[in-house]
Amino acid sequence: MVPIVEAVNVTKTYMLGKVPVEALRGVNLKVETGDFVSILGPSGSGKSTMLNLIGALDKPTAGTLLIDGVDISKLNDNQLADLRRRIGFVFQFFNLIPRLTARDNVELSMSISNIGRAQRRKRAEELLETVGLKDRINHKPAELSGGQQQRVAIARALANNPRFLLLDEPTGNIDSKTASEVIGLIKKLNVENNVSIIMVTHDQHLAREAKSTVQMFDGQIISEVVNNQ
Ligand SMILES: Nc1ncnc2c1ncn2[C@@H]1O[C@H](COP(=O)(O)OP(=O)(O)O)[C@@H](O)[C@H]1O
Ligand SMILES: [Mg+2]
Repeated sequence: MVPIVEAVNVTKTYMLGKVPVEALRGVNLKVETGDFVSILGPSGSGKSTMLNLIGALDKPTAGTLLIDGVDISKLNDNQLADLRRRIGFVFQFFNLIPRLTARDNVELSMSISNIGRAQRRKRAEELLETVGLKDRINHKPAELSGGQQQRVAIARALANNPRFLLLDEPTGNIDSKTASEVIGLIKKLNVENNVSIIMVTHDQHLAREAKSTVQMFDGQIISEVVNNQ
């Protein structure tokens, strides 16, 4: 099977005025369907740069970044947008729409797909049930805890049947008890629903919850380990 993500000698150099900043210096990485990989590294090591590439939000300076076997350097803006629609993004700050209920937040992400209203509603409710929020469907974000809001964000990310979930510090903004609830859900989605997951974090404990951890330092991958669970 084609890996969901494959980086071959990827470099990314930003220009800060006339000064080049080498954010990625020859990264090689392969993520297969069903994997749960965490990308761990200190601030400045290149995690966000890597996340932007894996999310088809930016292109490498050199090397090849394949998503589902497709070289993102060869895609135009429309094709990149199409590709991004097949990736489920989850961010640190949830990014839910405050005036909408949990169900409407999830439903909204399906409005560009060609399924009817009733079907979207039903799917939104099923997804909220999957993330354990069956009894919170009509709550607005302010009426939910941080962990519950993040679970809505995860349901929303799953709505369009993404090839993989891309999580950026998913528990960075919630307390440790709720964080373990959220990570429990992420693991369950991986194991039981076979959702492929790539999670970026600077938190060692969180990183170890993944099946494997890629350690970044100074724009390079310095180790890749399978975690004992
Ligand atoms: N847009 C940018 N312009 C210039 N330098 C950048 C830019 N984005 C990131 N960098 C630099 O690239 C390096 C890696 O940054 P980043 O990927 O954000 O690391 P991390 O997410 O691990 O903290 C850092 O040295 C950072 O200062
Ligand atoms: Mg970052």
